[in-house]
Amino acid sequence: MKNQNKIIEMFSAIAPTYDKANRVMSMGLDIQWRKDAVAAVLANFINRDVSVADIACGTGDMMGLWYERAKGYNANLTRLVGVDPSSGMLKVAKEKYPKFEFIQAHAADTKLEEKSVDVVSISYGIRNVVERVKALEEFNKILKTGGYLVVLEFTKPSKNGLVAKARDFYISKILPKIGEKISKNKEAYEYLPNSIEQFLDVETFKRELLNAGFSVEIAKSYTFEVSTLFLAKKVRDL
Ligand SMILES: C[S@@+](CC[C@H](N)C(=O)[O-])C[C@H]1O[C@@H](n2cnc3c(N)ncnc32)[C@H](O)[C@@H]1O
Repeated sequence: MKNQNKIIEMFSAIAPTYDKANRVMSMGLDIQWRKDAVAAVLANFINRDVSVADIACGTGDMMGLWYERAKGYNANLTRLVGVDPSSGMLKVAKEKYPKFEFIQAHAADTKLEEKSVDVVSISYGIRNVVERVKALEEFNKILKTGGYLVVLEFTKPSKNGLVAKARDFYISKILPKIGEKISKNKEAYEYLPNSIEQFLDVETFKRELLNAGFSVEIAKSYTFEVSTLFLAKKVRDL
């Protein structure tokens, strides 16, 4: 499925059960992956102002964490904005966080001003963005020089051993069944393993980040290389 509108419609359809499916499918591990990503960024903003744009914000889980965790670093959150093109996902996010700011827009055209934010985050979103390179260029554009891009994504394993086989079995056979049971949407949870399969490996995505004007400070894979955290610093304008 490479049709961007279809992908977005699919997310709108599963939005009401999205959080529940996430927790069950990752066995709660996604919460720790998210917390680590937020911590890796906030360590650079101790006693400083920080503005954050969470792209492909979905139901707002990362935004909740940015809001909660900034205080622990004495970071002054001057702006927190969520961007997502899916009306269904944004509806759930707004119900969870009525006071937060949201923009309905695509990653490749966020409607945010040039050099206006210190941090761009995108968790489990970039894989769904058809215009990925354009989106990375947009992230460069909206970030201040020296700002951070933090990406969480399911990546392909580097080795083909037993662990990779077990991981592939879980992702391609077990996950779709759990997702379908919770959401009653077979297509969406068949799309999940396919989109992971079609996404890049860690080294290839790192190269895309370099080409988009970033230097990669962290690329750390978690839990049998299921999820990878990329922390990249904007080092040049494009
Ligand atoms: C797997 S969900 C991730 C949601 C959230 N970031 C999280 O961590 O739970 C993927 C999100 O990407 C959004 N999305 C799909 N295509 C997009 C695009 N072109 N630009 C921005 N977001 C997009 C979907 O609407 C959906 O909310």
